[in-house]
Amino acid sequence: MQEKPVTILAIESSCDDTSAAVMRDGVLLSNVTASQAVHEAYGGVVPELASRAHQQNILPVVDQALARAGVAKADLSAVGVTLGPGLMGSLLVGVSFAKGMAIGLGIPLVEANHLQGHILANFIRAEGDDHTPPPFPFLCLLVSGGNTAIVRVDAPDSFTMLGQTIDDAAGEAMDKCAKVMGLGYPGGPIIDRLARQGNPDAFTFARPHAHGLDFSFSGLKTSFLYFLRDALKTDPDFIQNHKADLAASLEKTIVTMLMRGLDKAVKETGIRHVALAGGVSANTALRAAFEQRRDKAGWTVYVPRFSYTTDNAAMIAMVAHFKYLKGEFCPLDKPAFSRTVI
Ligand code: KG4
Repeated sequence: MQEKPVTILAIESSCDDTSAAVMRDGVLLSNVTASQAVHEAYGGVVPELASRAHQQNILPVVDQALARAGVAKADLSAVGVTLGPGLMGSLLVGVSFAKGMAIGLGIPLVEANHLQGHILANFIRAEGDDHTPPPFPFLCLLVSGGNTAIVRVDAPDSFTMLGQTIDDAAGEAMDKCAKVMGLGYPGGPIIDRLARQGNPDAFTFARPHAHGLDFSFSGLKTSFLYFLRDALKTDPDFIQNHKADLAASLEKTIVTMLMRGLDKAVKETGIRHVALAGGVSANTALRAAFEQRRDKAGWTVYVPRFSYTTDNAAMIAMVAHFKYLKGEFCPLDKPAFSRTVI
C-alpha cells in the first residue's frame, strides 16, 4: 500500500505580510502572500494596523493557497505556523487561525521559528526546480528588517547563533537612512535601485565594530544623519543633488560591514558553504559580494529565490515539513512569542 503523502498548510503572519503555503512531501505547491500597503503612509509598520489587516486577509489567503495547490482541507496532514518572533498582535491572528484549523480538522499543529524559516528558505523546492540546497554544516548570513545574524546550521533543527546585531538590523539601518533622505518605505529596495547609478566611493560613513562576530549598525545611522545635517547647511539641495551617490555609498558601507563579519566567521569555523537569507538578501550589491567570494575565495554560496527572501509561508512550510518528519508537534496551549530567539 502506498504511504499517505505529508501535506502541510503553513501560515505566516509575524509582521506585515499575511501568507499561506501548501507543501507536499517537501515540494512547494503554492505560496500566497497579501502585503499591507497601509503602512507606507507612516514610513514603518504600525502594529495595530497590521493586526487588523491580517484579520481581513487570512481567510482569503489560506483559501487561495489551498485552491492553487489543488488540495482539500481533508487532505492536510498538519498545520504549520510561525509562533515567533514577531509583532504579538500580528502573530496572534495567524497562530489562533492555525490552532482553530488544527482542532477543527483533528490534525497536529507544528510550530515554526520565523528566523529558522528564513534560513530554511534555502531548501524550498517547487515542482521542476533544479535547486541545490546547502549541505550541512553551513553558515547563514540572515539579514532582514528585524534581524542581522550569522548562524551555523548543522541540521534542519540545529542552529547556533555565532553573532548578531547588538542594536539595529541591517535592513532597519537602510530603511532609517532612506527615511532621513526622504525616500519611501521600505527604503532598502529604493536604495538598491538608486545605488545602481551612484558612486559607492563618493562618501564614507562610520563602520562600527562590535565584539566577536556581532554587528552594530546604530553608529552608522548616526554618522549618516550627522553627515547630511552638515552637508545641508551649505547646500540645501544636497540630498536631491547626490541621491544616487549617497545610496551607493550607504549600501557599500552596509555590505562591507556584513561581509567583514562573514569573512571572519568562515575563517574561524573553516566552513565554506555559505547561505544568504532574509529580505536584505534581495540586495544587488550583497548578492554580488557573495558571487565575488564564490569566484575568488572558493566559497560555495547559496541564495534563495527572490520570492522566498522576504516574509513568506513557503519557508514556514519547510520548517514544519522537517519537524513533521521527526514527529515534533506543538501543544495547542503553547503561546506565540515576540522575542528574538533561534
Ligand atoms: O525579511 P523581511 O521581509 O522582513 C523581516 O522579517 O524583517 O525584510 C525586510 C527588509 C526591509 O528592511 C527592506 O528594506 C529590506 O528587507 N530589503 C532590501 C531589499 N529588498 C528588501 N534591502 C536592500 N536591498 C533590497 N533590494
